[in-house]
Amino acid sequence: MDSGLDYHTARALLEWQVELGVTETIGETPLNRYDLPDKQKKVTPGPGPTAVPQAVKPKKDEDPVEIARISASAARTLEDLKTALAGFDLCDLKKGARNLVFADGVPDSRVMIIGEAPGREEDQQGRPFVGRAGHLLDRMLEAIGLSRAENVYITNVLPWRPPQNRDPKPDEIAMMKPFLERHVALAKPDVLVLMGNISCQTVLGRRGITRMRGKWDQAWDLPVMPMLHPAYLLRQPQAKRETWADLLDLNARLREKI
Ligand code: URA
Repeated sequence: MDSGLDYHTARALLEWQVELGVTETIGETPLNRYDLPDKQKKVTPGPGPTAVPQAVKPKKDEDPVEIARISASAARTLEDLKTALAGFDLCDLKKGARNLVFADGVPDSRVMIIGEAPGREEDQQGRPFVGRAGHLLDRMLEAIGLSRAENVYITNVLPWRPPQNRDPKPDEIAMMKPFLERHVALAKPDVLVLMGNISCQTVLGRRGITRMRGKWDQAWDLPVMPMLHPAYLLRQPQAKRETWADLLDLNARLREKI
């Protein structure tokens, strides 16, 4: 039966329904699948979850990265940027996500943290780092007197959850990078903290977090500290020692420049 949906939309819709707890695909109206197609009754969809809107596809010669750049650079405030992202329909991840995850914390903080992408809890709540890794991040920050309630601003490379938490793809990163760069320019932090390989790849253009961590770098006119991702620390708790050293270094840097 032709549902009128393209493959990616149909798949995102199905995955979303599975997450909502759907276990069987039974329609509300009986359908005799032995009927010839022209005799089949048209089944009107029931109330169920709202249909995922169709994304606007770029016209033949339009480059989604260029469109992202134009859209991001037009934003004059963080609120504008959030609105621009919410209206950006060229990234397929948006179709499968429940919420836009823009940022959390205090926007004019000296420290801005960049993570990878929302997971399940973040997608549900529309806020970054609210799951297990987020709780660990909060404890790490607290250890050096930082908190998102007072003096930290947090965002991710991707504002929409990738299906099954898969790694972001290069074209998704490229499309979101202009928004991230504008986000940093508008938030005006003193330092950036990059959590894990994806944010290092996006901001510094290279990965290798176990070698890069703890070494100050420079990007977008700002000092940048790469750190191990809290999700990695949950899997490898012995690496917390190194992260503690990196946090102390971050703290020292902030104190140097009060
Ligand atoms: N991991 C991330 O990188 N970001 C989140 O928001 C949550 C988990």
